[in-house]
Amino acid sequence: MGLFYQHNINGGTKVAIWRIEEDESFFLNKVPLKSNVSHPYKRLQHLAGRYLLPELYTDFPLEEIQIADTRKPFLQNEQYHFSISHCGNYAAAIVSGEERVGVDIELVTPRMYTIMHKFLHESEQDYLAEWEYMSKVHLELLTILWSAKEAIYKWYGLGQLSFRDDMRLCGPVVFGSSDWITLPFEFRKHEPVKLTVHARIFDPLVMAYVTSDAALKV
Ligand SMILES: CC(C)(COP(=O)(O)OP(=O)(O)OC[C@H]1O[C@@H](n2cnc3c(N)ncnc32)[C@H](O)[C@@H]1OP(=O)(O)O)[C@@H](O)C(=O)NCCC(=O)NCCS
Repeated sequence: MGLFYQHNINGGTKVAIWRIEEDESFFLNKVPLKSNVSHPYKRLQHLAGRYLLPELYTDFPLEEIQIADTRKPFLQNEQYHFSISHCGNYAAAIVSGEERVGVDIELVTPRMYTIMHKFLHESEQDYLAEWEYMSKVHLELLTILWSAKEAIYKWYGLGQLSFRDDMRLCGPVVFGSSDWITLPFEFRKHEPVKLTVHARIFDPLVMAYVTSDAALKV
């Protein structure tokens, strides 16, 4: 199928999702495989994520990607900030010439209930409980909260974060008229920073992304 979704966030930032139906050779035509990913399916996901980067910005220098000790991929000269996610047969990427970015995609499954207490602060659990009377929305919102925190983790990039305490929903979730969902977050690892996470539901997955001023020191 190829490109499943693409959105131009603003003049300098784009996000996209690829539905993987190709085999490895398709991606290897464009993507230099540097990473030592031994599991064939994980390698396919890895390649699809990389493949999306020049799909978004044709001059994206795939050859120049480096991997930090935290496993965050980056470009030394910061020509672009970018972030990648994969799950099942989907891969997502966000690329920006101007902003720090993080993206995550996640399949919606009840498995999320088994780990929710580990990543949600009590205040977030209380807020989520208000949606319990609508079980589908409740599970989708729970998955979005997880995805939002994974996106913030990648946006930060330095690891060593408590999902429960260092990133917190700090206001009501807004379900917008254009299918976008907006979540106000506070990043509390250092001096608190306000972040806005944008999310969207695509059956059977959700996507969340975060952007901020690239000069922001956290
Ligand atoms: C790094 C992490 C966010 C990846 O998330 P995931 O759902 O396993 O996998 P995704 O497919 O969404 O993302 C993988 C991509 O994230 C990127 N990535 C890996 N480490 C990263 C980091 N430290 N910062 C930014 N991006 C990172 C890579 O691009 C990777 O894909 P690639 O190797 O093919 O390039 C996750 O493994 C992790 O470590 N989470 C934090 C662990 C934690 O504290 N959990 C507590 C929960 S209560």
